[in-house]
Amino acid sequence: MTRHAAVIGHPVAHSRSPLIHGYWLKQHGIDGDYGLRDVPPERIETFLADFAGSGLVGANVTVPHKEAAFRAAVERDPVAQALGAVNTLWLEDGRLCGANTDVHGFLANLDAAEPEWARALGEAVVLGAGGASRAVVYGLLSRGIDRVVVANRTRARAEALRDQFGPRVLPVDWRDLASRLDGCRLLVNTTSLGMKGQPPLDIDLSALSPDALVTDIVYVPLETPLLKVAKARGLATVDGLGMLLHQAVPGFERWFGVRPEVTPELRALAIADLAA
Ligand code: ATR
Repeated sequence: MTRHAAVIGHPVAHSRSPLIHGYWLKQHGIDGDYGLRDVPPERIETFLADFAGSGLVGANVTVPHKEAAFRAAVERDPVAQALGAVNTLWLEDGRLCGANTDVHGFLANLDAAEPEWARALGEAVVLGAGGASRAVVYGLLSRGIDRVVVANRTRARAEALRDQFGPRVLPVDWRDLASRLDGCRLLVNTTSLGMKGQPPLDIDLSALSPDALVTDIVYVPLETPLLKVAKARGLATVDGLGMLLHQAVPGFERWFGVRPEVTPELRALAIADLAA
């Protein structure tokens, strides 16, 4: 019997998830499909309450429904529990279960590109304090990093992360960022700065450690102004596309029973799609 999965969002037409899952379904010869479900906010609760009647074995959830999915899931994995957001749903004995795979996506992307990135790291600097930052900070703390400095335009949001995750999170003012970059070995941008149509993230990287790794969760464009400057300085960089590809892995495995791989071919397909 054909198994159906989909991404639920509003709007959702721009989602790259069908490309990713479609590639894996074909690669593994699985009798399944993966589509788009545009569900407006006023219908999301009803939709999720009757998920079993939707015909889907599972789904990804994107903006603006990750919190609604969190509330609707009767069981949640510890990461979703910590982040208050669910991006992956499945049914178990008719009950709706949810997970958050963004943390896995962030960490697996770094692991694949720079396997030794977390060794003796000490401190990392994270720019931004929104939903994406919460996943990144959680992921870094889970890898045992001593301290995560969080710089955000609105300081109160960085303080909220410290309140949630504890004193290993150090909120700093955006204007004090320069002093925290001195000797920094991991810099992560989670703000929307540098995204197509947004102003660039304009910071001075000269104080970073020469062995620093700079990563951006923005992937349109693939090479953000931040990554361009970092590369020009000879620093190691990791773009954000891999996070998108890796966050899809656990859902596919759960729905279709095969652990898929983020292959160079999949990455090339996604890059071609972004350029189209
Ligand atoms: P997401 O869930 O994708 O992280 P978000 O919650 O809207 O999205 O967070 C966007 C992040 O980008 C925030 O850290 C935001 O800073 P504020 O908390 O001060 O809003 C940051 N951001 C967006 N535009 C910015 C700008 N022009 N300058 C500095 N930071 C910006």
